[in-house]
Amino acid sequence: MADLSLATLVEGKPVKIEKDGKTICVTRVGEEVFAIDDTCSHSDASLSEGDVSGFKIECWLHGAEFDLRTGEALTPPAVAPLKTYGIHVDGDSVTVEI
Ligand code: FES
Repeated sequence: MADLSLATLVEGKPVKIEKDGKTICVTRVGEEVFAIDDTCSHSDASLSEGDVSGFKIECWLHGAEFDLRTGEALTPPAVAPLKTYGIHVDGDSVTVEI
């Protein structure tokens, strides 16, 4: 069962979903979709409320940037990476693989 519809995922507008007890930030970049843990590794902020530019998402609280593809923390104050999840796209159906 799909978690999201590709048509509703707007580029640069991350969406927060809950799945299997996890809170995940799903972001569309072009025709690709990426999923990372929604909670910033620096403190308790929701990354889905942050700004996206290219393959980066910026935490709104203190400005740390993460790579949507790898979860790597690119700029301080965050240092720990975020977990990433696989995405399966089938037509319009987007499923986060946990
Ligand atoms: S909570 Fe995200 S950078 Fe501080």
